[in-house]
Amino acid sequence: MSTPDRHDPSTVDELTWAVHGGNSSDAFGALRTPLVAANSYVLPEDASQLSWSDSSELIYARNGHINQRALETKLAALDGGEEAVVFASGVAALHAMFFTHLRSGDHVVVSAVAYEAVHRLFAELLPERYGIEATFVESTDLDAVRAAMRPDTRLVHVETIANPTTAVTDIAAVAEIAHEGGALLSVDGTFTPPRCTGRWPTARTW
Ligand SMILES: Cc1ncc(COP(=O)(O)O)c(C=O)c1O
Repeated sequence: MSTPDRHDPSTVDELTWAVHGGNSSDAFGALRTPLVAANSYVLPEDASQLSWSDSSELIYARNGHINQRALETKLAALDGGEEAVVFASGVAALHAMFFTHLRSGDHVVVSAVAYEAVHRLFAELLPERYGIEATFVESTDLDAVRAAMRPDTRLVHVETIANPTTAVTDIAAVAEIAHEGGALLSVDGTFTPPRCTGRWPTARTW
């Protein structure tokens, strides 16, 4: 094994990233990112060009927060992902994802076994108020997923490991079906731990 070099992510073990991922020393030289209680940050002298809903700049804690970004960077590294976004709750994350990607008239294929709040969203709120239609399928049955796809299917949403049945869906196979049909795949992995085989995705400094 090569000598770890912090400037070359490919040489650094994933367990090291589990400790150091997302850490950056602060202006005072702290070894780890300290807990920052600030909700507002220093703005540039001329703020006329700032976008007040920009989440990539430190402006206001609702848009983005230094500890939130540290956690997101660590989670992305643990999962070998490019990016992570954290929310105060799982249902908040699900709402953000559905309301970001779905439009009225879209069709969604949803795991028949899904967290109760997700089931109710697709059985009641989204069809009744927003005209988004859902087909519930047993997502461990790939033929059933394939058969449920329609030209207007925008999203396939599966839950694995499923709560409460612990059924396991083949994510790679369902991703292929979704992408072939021009749809996105989302996975609620609440019961599934990170792979812990992540690599530092991109250097990030704040
Ligand atoms: C599979 C699954 N998804 C989503 C949630 C919702 O998470 P939260 O309670 O953080 O909103 C839960 C909660 O138990 C869950 O089991």
